[in-house]
Amino acid sequence: MEQYVISGGKSLAGEVTISGAKNAALGILAGAIICDDFVTIENLPDVNDTNILLEAIAAIGAVVDRVDRHTVRINGATIHTEMVDYDYIQKIRASYYLLGALLAKRGNATVAMPGGCDIGSRPIDQHLKGFRALGAKVTTENGFVHAQADHLRASHIFLDVVSVGATINIMLAAVMAEGQTIIENVAKEPHIVDVANFLNSLGANIKGAGTDVIRIRGVQKLHGNSYSIIPDQIEAGTFMCVAAATKGDVLLKNVIPKHLEAITAKLVEIGAEVNEYDDSVRVCCSRRPHASTVKTRVYPGFPTDMQPQMAALLMFGEGTSYINETIFENRFKYVAELRKMGANIKVEGSQMAVIEGIEKATAATLDTPDLRAGAALTIAALATEGRSVIRDIEYIERGYENFDEKLRALGASIEKTPVPAGRRKNKFA
Ligand code: EPZ
Repeated sequence: MEQYVISGGKSLAGEVTISGAKNAALGILAGAIICDDFVTIENLPDVNDTNILLEAIAAIGAVVDRVDRHTVRINGATIHTEMVDYDYIQKIRASYYLLGALLAKRGNATVAMPGGCDIGSRPIDQHLKGFRALGAKVTTENGFVHAQADHLRASHIFLDVVSVGATINIMLAAVMAEGQTIIENVAKEPHIVDVANFLNSLGANIKGAGTDVIRIRGVQKLHGNSYSIIPDQIEAGTFMCVAAATKGDVLLKNVIPKHLEAITAKLVEIGAEVNEYDDSVRVCCSRRPHASTVKTRVYPGFPTDMQPQMAALLMFGEGTSYINETIFENRFKYVAELRKMGANIKVEGSQMAVIEGIEKATAATLDTPDLRAGAALTIAALATEGRSVIRDIEYIERGYENFDEKLRALGASIEKTPVPAGRRKNKFA
């Protein structure tokens, strides 16, 4: 159990290099097992979620060769089971991408049912709807999802809900399904496009990723290749909020500015200066944020994964701000923690938070409820004079590579230390 100890109130400045996109990497790592050749994946983020998924892939028998921290070679030829056990799905929901990948590869897959989590119930009914449409027999029993198909055939699928996970999982399952599969009402996030581009680099025939309709013409088999993952849109957005909240001046390198458009627009609206270059953006801010309204939407709208970070910025805003979370039903658990710092935030129902901005907060000891909430608490602590402690940082390290090191390089006073024995939370309280 580790914690961040932050001495906040400093303006952060300098350069930060953004890592590969976690939410693209998870779909790509799962897709890599479909072919029986070596697939080399570069710009892999070295974060707990991807490392755990690689453990799950090795556990079913694939060759997983860690070339270096950010490069892995995978060969699915030696996979000897289609059963992904509970440990892995309990640690990381996205292990469920192995359902689609194993269904495509072997016509058979059994993966533990993912539970809900701290941001909502997160059902997978749309994933299963897609598998069934492709001809798979799908049952859920004893806490497992079992999908089986002697022959996957093309289908015309209309998703009831725009879902990143379902879009990726169905795309994985359909890559070798005979005929042309059409999936409508799909997610359009940058990581959807990256997974489609990756699969096409292995010989798949996928068109339309990034639009509302994806068309997949099934191919006989996939072949090996090398592929480099896109930069992480949400890590970049998080560091843009760090710069704005600490009234700093930060150059973010290895980004795709187009992926950041909704975040950039919101930061400019609240008074930050954002300059875009080919593969970098610079964020400067010398003033207290203007109040604003943030409404989370599917891409290209404002990302739900940036909602907590924006709240940590707007808690210092001039006036009343509104956060309308339209994607998940329980994504305000960080509010109780920010209130410990003096934030004036009221959650009304499950989808609206009203923020009365304060000029200064007070340092506090905070508990991280989930990944992006942890990033938000860190932002608030960096912007607040005094010694704050952020506990349960393993949530943060699921999705941010070397978060404390990157912040220290920008001048932050942040140390990662073990939680003192007497201060360890009773997880079963
Ligand atoms: C992905 O989760 C991301 N995770 C999430 O990021 C992100 O918040 C989310 O997409 C939205 O962008 C990964 O990519 C690993 P959804 P996912 O399916 O796929 C409902 C992070 O911080 N839904 O797009 O689970 C669902 O309940 C994480 O990196 C169904 O009803 O999200 C939600 O309300 C947190 N049925 C909405 O759709 C389904 O079958 C969007 O969920 C699937 C989803």
